[in-house]
Amino acid sequence: MTKRIRKAVFPVAGLGTRFLPATKSIPKEMLTIVDRPVLQHVVDEAREAGIEHFIFVTGRNKAVIEDHFDIAFELEETLQKRGKLKELQGLTDLLPAAGAASFTRQQEPLGLGHAVWCAREIVGDEPFAVLLPDMVTQAAAGKGGRCLAQCIEAYEKHGGNIIAAEEVPMEETHQYGIISIGKDFGPTFEITGMVEKPPKGMAPSNLMISGRYILGPEIFPILEKGEKGAGGEIQLTDGMIALSKTQAFHGVRFDGKTFDCGSKLGFLSANVAFALANPEVAAPFKAELKKVLGAL
Ligand code: G1P
Repeated sequence: MTKRIRKAVFPVAGLGTRFLPATKSIPKEMLTIVDRPVLQHVVDEAREAGIEHFIFVTGRNKAVIEDHFDIAFELEETLQKRGKLKELQGLTDLLPAAGAASFTRQQEPLGLGHAVWCAREIVGDEPFAVLLPDMVTQAAAGKGGRCLAQCIEAYEKHGGNIIAAEEVPMEETHQYGIISIGKDFGPTFEITGMVEKPPKGMAPSNLMISGRYILGPEIFPILEKGEKGAGGEIQLTDGMIALSKTQAFHGVRFDGKTFDCGSKLGFLSANVAFALANPEVAAPFKAELKKVLGAL
């Protein structure tokens, strides 16, 4: 019997240098995909998967993230007075319940492993999810949930630790964590090895770690050691390699699409894909897109 996954950690302390000047005063997680911040899409994915407590590991200059997940009293009162009830409902639907969002700070940019470790007191002694907000997932048309829901399904089946993976072109493997696979169960598989940002030509496969994890709390004492890996940072992947010596790790092939919104290209294609899936704008946007593409 596996324990229920109730808590999710969102590491949101990154500087967003790839999106300057847009991210000079706005956190990169607050850039919009269609009508909501990137981070809102990722939090929605967690909520749909049954997550009840949202833990944000923030940094300096990220205060608006906290405001986004709070009541905006003056705004909501004005919407109410003006009878804009649909807009008001849209805000209240997305609001975490009182006490269901926690914020802690990563004081120094020491790496993803360090960011996750910063959440240890709030997570406590139970398995938890991690969602990297750069990676935005979209369910396959007409079936299944988003990536975290599929990870939780795999966790309920296999127990232990779960990592979502996705194929990338071999020439891009040096930008990601890469896994090697053992016994294949179809949508899930055994993970036999992991490496963070392998040098070009050295990746054991083209399966990248795509930013959704279910981890046991035993990862925390490992991360606490603060051992540095690729790029001189405390890497989550290295912590997972150490944990895999004593606990099982399974991979999930997400049946859907993942957009790496940490890159301009991924961010732009996410906007196109989410607009085309949004009933409010899909049809007129398609017509606009055709015009723009026709002019090329
Ligand atoms: C992080 C992880 C890496 C993963 C990637 C997905 O890297 O360390 O394993 O593949 O996210 O985006 P980062 O993008 O923070 O360099």
